[in-house]
Amino acid sequence: MSQNWSSKETKSQNQPVAAGQKRTRNDEGNKVTVVLGAQWGDEGKGKVVDLLATEADIICRCQGGNNAGHTVVVDGKEYDFHLLPSGIINTKGISLIGNGVVIHLPGLFEEGDKNEKKGLKGWEKRLIVSDRAHLVFDFHQVVDGLQETERQAQEGKNIGTTKKGIGPAYSSKASRIGLRVCDLLGDFNDFSTRFKNLIHHYQSMYPSLKVDVDDQLKKLKDFAERLRPMVRDGVYYMYEALHGPPKKILVEGANAALLDIDFGTYPFVTSSNCTVGGVCTGLGIPPVNIGDVFGVSKAYTTRVGIGAFPTEQLNAVGELLQTRGHEVGVTTGRKRRCGWLDLVILKYAHMINGFTAVALTKLDILDVLDEIKVGVAYKLNGKRIPHFPANMDILHKVEVEYETFPGWKTDTSAARKWNDLPAKAQNYIRFIENHIGVPIKWVGVGKSRECMIQMF
Ligand code: GDP
Ligand code: IMO
Ligand code: MG
Repeated sequence: MSQNWSSKETKSQNQPVAAGQKRTRNDEGNKVTVVLGAQWGDEGKGKVVDLLATEADIICRCQGGNNAGHTVVVDGKEYDFHLLPSGIINTKGISLIGNGVVIHLPGLFEEGDKNEKKGLKGWEKRLIVSDRAHLVFDFHQVVDGLQETERQAQEGKNIGTTKKGIGPAYSSKASRIGLRVCDLLGDFNDFSTRFKNLIHHYQSMYPSLKVDVDDQLKKLKDFAERLRPMVRDGVYYMYEALHGPPKKILVEGANAALLDIDFGTYPFVTSSNCTVGGVCTGLGIPPVNIGDVFGVSKAYTTRVGIGAFPTEQLNAVGELLQTRGHEVGVTTGRKRRCGWLDLVILKYAHMINGFTAVALTKLDILDVLDEIKVGVAYKLNGKRIPHFPANMDILHKVEVEYETFPGWKTDTSAARKWNDLPAKAQNYIRFIENHIGVPIKWVGVGKSRECMIQMF
C-alpha cells in the first residue's frame, strides 16, 4: 500500500543547509499526507485515516475539537473518536494533537478511557499534545448553548452546533483572552487569575452563567498532571519529524470544507479552517511539506444542523438514504439530513484544497435505488450561475440541475475490486471523477477496513 504515501525520500533531505546556501526543492523534507472532508462532514474520514494509519509513523489532528466524530470499525468492533486522532488505533504510530485544535480535557480523557475499555491499549503513551493548543472549558460549552438559545430568540433559528464549546473557545483565542496548554502547565496562580478573568468576561455577557470556580480549578490542576507527560512543543516536534529520517505522516482533517469558517456556508459553519490551509496553521508546517491531499466524499450528501443544502431530498429518497445509511450524528445523535451528491460543492472543495485524489464512500447505500441523481450545476432565475455562491440567500434560492443515472440494483457490499462492481456503478463513479477532474482512489462499500476498493 506504499503507493498511498507521498513522503518524499530524496537523498539530500536530511542534510542541513549551509549558511548562505539556498534550500532547494530537494531538501524540503518529508511530506505529510492529508485527509479532508469535502462536503458537510461525516464523509467517512475516520475510515480513510484508519486505512492509511496502519502504515503511518505519526497521525495528527490540526483543527477542530470534539465536535468531530470519526468512526473506525476494526475486527467488527466500532470505535468513535472525537479529539483523539483515529489513527491512535495503530499501536506502532504516534498521535499528535496540534496547536490548531481546541481541547476539552475532560472530553479527551473520557474518550481515551472509554476506548481503552474497548481494547485500545496504551494510548496515553502514544499521544503528543501541542503546548500551543487552546483549551475548551466546561463554561465554553455552557456558553455555546446560551448562544444557540440567543440566536433562536433573536433570529428564529440557531446554527445547530454540537454544543461542545468550539465557537466560544475559538472566540476566546481570537480575542486574545484564551488559555493554552502551556498556560495550564506553567504558573498555576497565574493560570487561575486568567481563568477567573475569562469567566468574568463571559459572565458580563451572560449574567446567568454560573461557574464553580474552585471546583473547576481543582479539576484542571489534576488534568494538568495527567497531561504533562504528553505535552511537547509541536512546532519543533513536527520540524524534526519532517527533516529527520523518512517518515509517513498523516493529517486527519476534522469537520469539512463546507463547514470551514472562511469557505463554508457561513454563518452555518464551525469556527476553524477545515480546508488545507488549516493543516499549515494548525501544525506549524510550511505548505511545501504538504504532499497528497485526499478528499473524502460520500456517494450522496448529508448535513447535520441548520443551513442551506441545495440537493437535500425531503422525500422518500432522503428517508431511504437516512435509514439505509444509518445517518445519525456520532457526536450528537441527531438525524443527518440527506440528499443527492452535489458536484458543485465537490468542485468548489477541490478548488480550495487541491485534492490529489478522492475517496468516495458509502456507494453501497445507493444499491437499492431505481435511479440516482447527481447535482451538476446551480441555476438562479432559470440561468446557470458560474460560482458556488457566498451569499446564503442565493444558495437557498438556487435550483439544481441534475444528471440522472439508472440504479444498478445489485448488492455491492462484497465487491473488493473495480471489476466486482456492476457496470452501472462504474459508470456513476467515472462520471463523478470526470466531472470534478480528480481521480477516485478508493470506493467504499461497507463500514469495515476491507470494504474499500482501491483503484490505483
Ligand atoms: P467522519 O466524521 O468523516 O469520520 O465520518 P463518520 O464516522 O461521522 O460517519 C461516517 C459513517 O459511515 C460511519 O458510521 C462509518 O462507519 C460509515 N461508513 C464509512 N464508509 C462507509 C461505506 O463505504 N459504506 C457504509 N455502509 N458505511 C460507511
Ligand atoms: P466530522 O469531523 C458534521 C456542524 C454542526 C453545526 C456546525 C457548527 O465528524 O465530520 P460546532 O459545534 O462546530 O460549532 O457546530 O458544524 N459540524 C459537523 N457536522 N460533522 C462534523 O465533524 C461536524 N463538526 C461540526 O453540526 O451545524
Ligand atoms: Mg463524523
